[in-house]
Amino acid sequence: MNFSSATQHGTLGIDFGTSNSALAWADKDGLAQALTLEGEAHTLPTAVFYNAEEHSTHFGRDAIKLYLTGTEGRLMRSLKSLLGSPLLGEKTLVNGQLLNFQDIIASFLKELRQRATQQLGEEPERVVIGRPVHFVDDDPARDEQAQEALRQAAHQAGLNNVSFQLEPIAAALDYERRITHESLVLVVDIGGGTSDFTVVRLGPNRVARAVEQADRASDVLATSGVHIGGTDYDQKLNLGHVMPLLGLRHQGPRGREVPSGIFYDLATWHLINWRYSPRAMREALALKDEYSDKQLHQRLMTVLQERLGHQMANEVEQAKINCSQSGQASQIDLSRVEAGLQALLSPSSMAEYLHDPLTRVVACAHECVRRAGLSKGQLDAIYLTGGSSALVPFQQALQAAFSGTALVEGDLFGGVAAGLAYSGQGR
Ligand SMILES: Nc1ncnc2c1ncn2[C@@H]1O[C@H](COP(=O)(O)OP(=O)(O)OP(=O)(O)O)[C@@H](O)[C@H]1O
Ligand SMILES: [Mg+2]
Repeated sequence: MNFSSATQHGTLGIDFGTSNSALAWADKDGLAQALTLEGEAHTLPTAVFYNAEEHSTHFGRDAIKLYLTGTEGRLMRSLKSLLGSPLLGEKTLVNGQLLNFQDIIASFLKELRQRATQQLGEEPERVVIGRPVHFVDDDPARDEQAQEALRQAAHQAGLNNVSFQLEPIAAALDYERRITHESLVLVVDIGGGTSDFTVVRLGPNRVARAVEQADRASDVLATSGVHIGGTDYDQKLNLGHVMPLLGLRHQGPRGREVPSGIFYDLATWHLINWRYSPRAMREALALKDEYSDKQLHQRLMTVLQERLGHQMANEVEQAKINCSQSGQASQIDLSRVEAGLQALLSPSSMAEYLHDPLTRVVACAHECVRRAGLSKGQLDAIYLTGGSSALVPFQQALQAAFSGTALVEGDLFGGVAAGLAYSGQGR
């Protein structure tokens, strides 16, 4: 992409997502354009790999691929989930070096900044970073801390003139470019970590007015958000279909179930690494007495010794996507754990395991419409963005709850970044 020298003045929108990050650039008057981040791709998976063999650091698909193909090292995923967690200030041993999680987030943001400036030719004049409606549910103090930590990480990354915008408002600003008449829209952004909703009044003649401007602020009728997203669906499906094969809910010789903590951690993207520490490995070994079927314990030990947690979580995520897209049962390949081992994810069992979190997400959509003082029938459209909004059981649950209102599928992975870039215009 070629930018003329005049376009150095403008806004870089940074969608720092739980699973994927994206960048868009808007000059003073123009349309937001997605920046390429890895080859031709407009997204960079939010993943960092510390390569122990070559002492190098890798990002995105490159990071995931190196890790999954067996290169020695440490993979960090779901970094954004750490922002609201007490783990943020803790240090972790990475290839013999103690690193703080905030520093790891800063290094990822720095990589985004460098990939952007490479294309822009200069540092961006303004930066707008997206944030979910809540980083942490029902805890405003920790929520505020999470945004501050992100601001601090952005500062460490060398990003200047940074402001924040709610991710669903950004999604709405992007959608607004595409409509031809005034509409009341429920904007739905279901990502990897959070589900966010906004009821907003959109219209072609309102475009390009930043929402913070007094005459625009009243167009945002309500927001709501809940800390549930695609990584939680992966966790539920993992706990339902994979972890029982390693001993979850397995009855030991004394009639007690194997303690479940280890399975929760192994099924949770940002906690997997903790289970590979020498102390956690010793604890896992000692669990053998709790198993009647020692083969299940052997599988658990193989997963830990060969560090297969991320690979299994990845298999579950792929099966979730395949099952949703094809409407057919999908295999979860576990042959690296034990020859011939596999689990099957069917559309009906997926709907069953995801019923509770999906119910909470749909309730959050209702809450948003209620806060806006509207009845369901007053919405002109429901606009879907974020990768998990493509999940068929989610769309079915949402459509059942808002029957009669059209669901409009948007730019699933680039819309938030574009809207963030727009929201810096006119500042
Ligand atoms: N076709 C699909 N069907 C269902 N889920 C999908 C599909 N494609 C991607 N996903 C899921 O979407 C999620 C990633 O979406 P997205 O990139 O919008 O999230 P994010 O912006 O990184 O997260 P957040 O906004 O919550 O911080 C992952 O959990 C992924 O498994
Ligand atoms: Mg997102």
